[in-house]
Amino acid sequence: MRLLHVDASPKGANSNSRALSRFFVDQLRAHIPSLSIDYLDLASEVLPPITELFTGATYTPEAERTPEMRDALTASDALCRRLLDAEALLFAMPMHNWTMPAAFKGFVDAIVRGGLTYVPTEDGRFVGMLGGRKTLFVTTRGVDLRPGTPFAAMDALTPALRAAFGFIGVANPAFVDAQPLQFARETERADALTRAKEELAALAEYWGNIEPRVMLSQAS
Ligand SMILES: Cc1cc2nc3c(=O)[nH]c(=O)nc-3n(C[C@H](O)[C@H](O)[C@H](O)COP(=O)(O)O)c2cc1C
Repeated sequence: MRLLHVDASPKGANSNSRALSRFFVDQLRAHIPSLSIDYLDLASEVLPPITELFTGATYTPEAERTPEMRDALTASDALCRRLLDAEALLFAMPMHNWTMPAAFKGFVDAIVRGGLTYVPTEDGRFVGMLGGRKTLFVTTRGVDLRPGTPFAAMDALTPALRAAFGFIGVANPAFVDAQPLQFARETERADALTRAKEELAALAEYWGNIEPRVMLSQAS
């Protein structure tokens, strides 16, 4: 299984989402010894900002792009290729101001690309190209936003991830949300990490027991 593993926390060695995504990878490797990892750290590999040239280039047919337009799309093209080459996807991030951290938003802006990760059809629909890949989002939150809690309605992270990745074909992604990890008593924080690790271990076992269903027509 080829797994694209993306971390997005700015907190380096002190990051909970990084620790949890590493935990999942270790568990998964125990079930799939041949696991291969393509790793992307969005805190150290800072993506170029979206510019006017980039936006113009994305909506210009490939054959008509100028050399400058092609240059502006290079990093985004490469990221799309890495996604399309993967058989499974793991994205780990903290919640920042109720939604995704800016580094991960930059990644999303780079990978939702017409003609690459989604294709418009002649009858006005859009077909996402990432179908069939097992996908996991690991998110960490300072407060508890589970259903029934006072902050539950503030979760703008889960729907944003579902929408952006659903558009490019990711169906039924798994979510492991570790919460509360900051604004809570020590015992509650420890319980949240234990719960998250239990969910991750169970999911790794599940992924390990099913064959990747993806047929990579793009694979060369
Ligand atoms: C800039 C910033 C904004 C944050 N905003 C929120 C928030 O809106 N809701 C929340 O529950 N926690 C928020 N937090 C707390 C983090 O989500 C929480 O500490 C998380 O565990 C950090 O994960 P990490 O260790 O992987 O970076 C914020 C933290 C930072 C640094």
